[in-house]
Amino acid sequence: MSSVVVVGTQWGDEGKGKITDFLAEKADVVVRFQGGNNAGHTIVFDNKKFALHLIPSGIFRKDAINILGNGMVINPKALIEELDMLKKGGINEFNLAISDRAHVVLPYHSTLDQLFEDLKEGDKKVGTTNKGIGPAYTDKAARIGIRVCDFVDLEVFKDKLTDNLNYYNKIFKLFGKQSIDIDKVYSEYKDYSLRIREYVTDTSILLNDQFDNNKNVLFEGAQGSLLCLDHGTYPYVTSSSPTASSVPLNTGISPKLIDEILGVTKAYSTRVGSGYFATEVENGVTKRIREVGNEFGTTTGRPRRIGWIDTVVLRHSKRISGLTALSVMLLDVLTGIETLKICTSYELDGNIIDYIPASIKEVNRCKPVYIELPGWKEDITKTANFSDLPLNAQGYLNKITELTGLDLAIFSVGPDRTQTIVLKELYK
Ligand code: IMP
Ligand code: MG
Repeated sequence: MSSVVVVGTQWGDEGKGKITDFLAEKADVVVRFQGGNNAGHTIVFDNKKFALHLIPSGIFRKDAINILGNGMVINPKALIEELDMLKKGGINEFNLAISDRAHVVLPYHSTLDQLFEDLKEGDKKVGTTNKGIGPAYTDKAARIGIRVCDFVDLEVFKDKLTDNLNYYNKIFKLFGKQSIDIDKVYSEYKDYSLRIREYVTDTSILLNDQFDNNKNVLFEGAQGSLLCLDHGTYPYVTSSSPTASSVPLNTGISPKLIDEILGVTKAYSTRVGSGYFATEVENGVTKRIREVGNEFGTTTGRPRRIGWIDTVVLRHSKRISGLTALSVMLLDVLTGIETLKICTSYELDGNIIDYIPASIKEVNRCKPVYIELPGWKEDITKTANFSDLPLNAQGYLNKITELTGLDLAIFSVGPDRTQTIVLKELYK
């Protein structure tokens, strides 16, 4: 038995979907443990492209069990759409389990998401995906959330839906928003409830059974460590924790069951939404990175902000999750750039620091300190080994591992499954 957690080390979109899909080949179980359909993974194989938002990347392997854990917030409509999309793409045989303790995202959550964003001014806006994720987690903490076990019991669902909409419609009225019709939502969502019912179970029991039977388990993080509600760049964060520490709580297993924790980083940095991003640059080079790397949000289509790789961020992520290895993605996107920069520390009010300050005021005064490395021009998209890489590309990767103190387990030189080079076996 062994287990691997895949964690985004930046602001999401590091290529975790591709890595998870790749690692799922040897996994018996693939588990999503937090977030909802704010996430977006694009997976490419056999000339087919699939965008996943809720369903774990193991869904393409018909022998793998795919679990949506209790820490998730699940939009049933989006889930059904995703299942239909898979069926249309010829994916008919799969094994899916949804936690009866996960929370459900309903239409009023997206209305609230939009409303709260609209009420904030200028740079106070978080730039959420507007999928209702924050308000669904707010309901969970406020103890008025509707869990999957409630959702599949139509009597309980109707009861809780009525309570919540009676309450939220008053708020909508105050802000001049249209109220949401309880019967309309119920009659639409009743169908979704009936359709997902067959997948609903106590996934903590299911998962622990898999561990008891010595299975390989893969935990698929969504978003990135810097979007963590606790350790990210608050308040410009999501409402859950994408770190490895959140896995036990959000899936119902012992922390002792985690073996390897793989941090995934891009060879550069990106961010969608607002907030601190020390190494952000907008010039010809980063414009090119956006185009070559197709840096537009999978979920919202927004152009992503681009910058150099930041090893302060990577070390922060290593510390809060206990990363055991690193995977560097999209190395090919940097081909042709003459000089590459790597951020090694920040300068804050004349002092060199090696951490991300908690205070937004301070963090916004941080200036990146860079080293420069020569780039490479050779096409690397057909690389099969580390030693096939041009020396400057090897030097670039070596510098990142040196500055993070992490072993390079994987690097990726293109979108296809075959363009993934593994240097360290993660399953025992
Ligand atoms: P929310 O998760 O929709 O509440 O959005 C909060 C912040 O997290 C916003 O800046 C989003 O752009 C960002 N975010 C949420 N999910 C993802 C993701 O999967 N990739 C990248 N950014 C994300
Ligand atoms: Mg994404």
